[in-house]
Amino acid sequence: MKPKVLVTREVFDETLQYLAGHCDVESNQGDMPLDTAGLARRLADKAGVICSLTDRIDGELVQRCPGLKVVSNIAVGYNNIDVAACSARNIMVTNTPGVLDDSTADLAWTLMLATARRLTEVEGNIRSGQWQGWQLKQWLGVDVHHATLGILGMGRIGQAIARRALGFDMRVIYHNRTRVAADIEQRLAATYAGKDELLAQADFLILQVPYSPQTHHLIGACELKKMKPGAILINSTRGGVVDDAALIQALTDGTIRAAGLDVFENEPRLNPGFLTLKNVVLTPHIGSSTEATRRAMAMTAARNAVAALVGGVPPNLLNPEVVR
Ligand code: GLV
Repeated sequence: MKPKVLVTREVFDETLQYLAGHCDVESNQGDMPLDTAGLARRLADKAGVICSLTDRIDGELVQRCPGLKVVSNIAVGYNNIDVAACSARNIMVTNTPGVLDDSTADLAWTLMLATARRLTEVEGNIRSGQWQGWQLKQWLGVDVHHATLGILGMGRIGQAIARRALGFDMRVIYHNRTRVAADIEQRLAATYAGKDELLAQADFLILQVPYSPQTHHLIGACELKKMKPGAILINSTRGGVVDDAALIQALTDGTIRAAGLDVFENEPRLNPGFLTLKNVVLTPHIGSSTEATRRAMAMTAARNAVAALVGGVPPNLLNPEVVR
């Protein structure tokens, strides 16, 4: 008998075909996010779940799923999963690192360039028919080239962001829990800085740390005050890393110039204060959303789940202690 798996959100045909070759698949191709009760009901008889960041896999849920062997997240971030609770029940947890680094770095850059050149405002001006023609002092933005880029979180995606800065002649400084290897620093022309130094010197600050209790509100009122008044903040990692209410205040009173945001607290019910600000560029959590990357993420998650269920060690296992 094939192991039973649940796919909690819509995926691609090839993902389902691959899974069906190895598993008995139940899938939610209607794509409505499942609530806790719905998820628990559908997972009660499953050996695996291919889930997304909209699914909360916590201790209470896994307790109700006695046969569960693998939780395979279609994302690199896994703050939606209680990994310790899974480990305690010998459930493997996997994610999809690597395949989305470049697309996510591209989106961080999209937000950086778009905020620097005030894309939301200028496009709105054209679309609303208000453009009166060229003027020397119209819609003045700021330069990205030759500016100082600060990266908070220098993992794979942070490094991909830094790599792109080489072509823009930027000065790159970064802060990370641990300093990256000297050869990587050299290749990226990136200099390690303390957090306060990073805040004080960056013209553009891009956040790329994973979300956890330790990084909750890593950027709040106090940190925003330490930034340059002309600075631009980009959050392309996870809502909750920034205190959104404090950011709205800082953008309103000119503590910083602008922000480019792909992620928010309480998605999708973001703080309405953002919607009336002119100095923000907002995107709906699409960091990895290119067709090729989302296909690769879904397939990576499917492969992780199948490997776990046929008795192997999944390539992207987050809690190796369960297979020791
Ligand atoms: C997307 O947000 C991810 O963590 O992969």
